[in-house]
Amino acid sequence: MHEEQTIPWWKDAIGYQIYPKSFQDTNHDGIGDLNGIRQRLPYLKELGIDFVWLNPIYASPNVDNGYDISDYQAINPEYGTMAEMVDLIKEAHAHGIKIIMDLVINHTSDQHPWFQEALKGPDNPYHDYYIWADGTQKPNEWESIFGGSIWQEVPSLKKQYLHVFAKEQPDLNWENKQMRQDLYKMIRWWLDLGIDGFRIDAISHIKKSSWDTKPQADWAFSPFTNVAGIDVYLTELGQIFKEYDIVTVGEASGVTAEQAPEWVGEDGYFNMIFEFEHISLWKREKQDTIDVIALKKALSHWQKQLDYGKGWNALYMENHDVPRSVSVFGNDQPVYRQKAATALATMYLLLQGTPFIYQGQELGMTNMTFTDLDQLDDVTAKQQIEELRKLEDSGERNLEILELMSSISRDNSRTPMQWSTEENAGFSTAEPWLVVNPNYEEINVAAQLKQPNSILSYYKQLIQLRKNRAVFVTGHYHDYLLDDPKVYVYERFLGTERMLVVVNLTKDAAEIDLPAAISGQSWTLVIDNHSVEGASSEHELQLTQHQKTMALAPYEARVYHMNQRVKETFNEKIR
Ligand code: NOJ
Repeated sequence: MHEEQTIPWWKDAIGYQIYPKSFQDTNHDGIGDLNGIRQRLPYLKELGIDFVWLNPIYASPNVDNGYDISDYQAINPEYGTMAEMVDLIKEAHAHGIKIIMDLVINHTSDQHPWFQEALKGPDNPYHDYYIWADGTQKPNEWESIFGGSIWQEVPSLKKQYLHVFAKEQPDLNWENKQMRQDLYKMIRWWLDLGIDGFRIDAISHIKKSSWDTKPQADWAFSPFTNVAGIDVYLTELGQIFKEYDIVTVGEASGVTAEQAPEWVGEDGYFNMIFEFEHISLWKREKQDTIDVIALKKALSHWQKQLDYGKGWNALYMENHDVPRSVSVFGNDQPVYRQKAATALATMYLLLQGTPFIYQGQELGMTNMTFTDLDQLDDVTAKQQIEELRKLEDSGERNLEILELMSSISRDNSRTPMQWSTEENAGFSTAEPWLVVNPNYEEINVAAQLKQPNSILSYYKQLIQLRKNRAVFVTGHYHDYLLDDPKVYVYERFLGTERMLVVVNLTKDAAEIDLPAAISGQSWTLVIDNHSVEGASSEHELQLTQHQKTMALAPYEARVYHMNQRVKETFNEKIR
């Protein structure tokens, strides 16, 4: 443990995201469950995890896998019971692992009793819990994020309701005070039950512009994303959170790094937000590899905007909405996979902020090669497939769609967790709800636990490295060579402590000229992903004062340490 004891627990913590449906099945129905999560707590503990974020486990018709909630205070029976949830919280706490839940309060399911009441007409008190426009004509051309119009007509009422996501996910009307009070009551109920915080879904959409607002030319969702006036609701919500010792992470698309301090600074609404700048960089239609300079600049932008106490970052490379990071930002070909996955881990886990690991990322789980369109489950994938099929319905077209889905679909990251070489990757004894990636034979927990050089072992070492050095938690950030097209070089520093992170993010060898602030000093290597393949004996353990350049193998990552025992600290030098 490091010396500073005054920082809140979540600054020093490693988060792990669990997609419950795909994590571990124990009741043999092909669907993951709460008892499965409970069973795997020792695995998470061993990995070094401090808190877990559970994707929605509430009662839901599952149009959008739980993001369409029909009862906020009930557990989806597919996952278990409320008693099992209480057991999970207790047992996780006994392992020293906290539990945070997904809080979906921009919308409900259309099956939620509030919406069912709302459908009865304008006289029903719940009608105004949702957002309506009169008449059979849509009031504007706004598009929903999942495609198609944002409006859905209810012919019997001669009215339309607004849905930012699927039509089965009507948006709540945050202007209705009673609705907000009902949500707050529910939030307190969960917090009083003993959970440790929330990841707050789609929260930058709760405020909408007036109906006559035109979307910005390059941004179809601008009329309902981070709209002026949202602060009133967020402040109210934030007040409740501040009463508890919890962590809150807002999903905040459309919030810029410049605006972020207002959201996550000292008086912010949340402790952290998930930003979208780096994750949106990969555009399949434009490139098949990532633009390294753009990636470095995006990460660096957030690091700098929130440094020196202005806020706190949520660090992530994967989640249930994006394809697997090793396939997108790295390279999932067997010859590169291990290096690429560990390079990405080194790059993001040592930045300033709280790191989140998405289930399977610690194994280098990859995208799936879908072989049949019926294997896809996600609501957005199905919509996309339908649209594409309309264009031309030939067998050849289906192959193209399959290839596209294998690269962009959210189902890539939702395939079952790969535990072992047993049937269905050890996820379930029954046929899983979503196809298992056949590469589980090589990529699985059981195999990687046995290999000291596995991606999993490297994650564990990196997590321990981060935990053992305060500089990674409270240290500042400084980067070099931002325009180098291959290598990311940054430093974390605190007082006289300096850590240097150097990562080649490409499949080509690279060489960099060491900047003056780095060369001329003696550095000691503390971890490198070369030794993952047993090459560390040939490796230099020191970066000497005389060295002016550094050569890196494809996807090579190194972390060096030095203690600058001179009066002038690095901090003072660069400021
Ligand atoms: C963001 C969630 O991460 C995503 O999975 C979901 O589809 C939308 N919000 C709607 O709730």
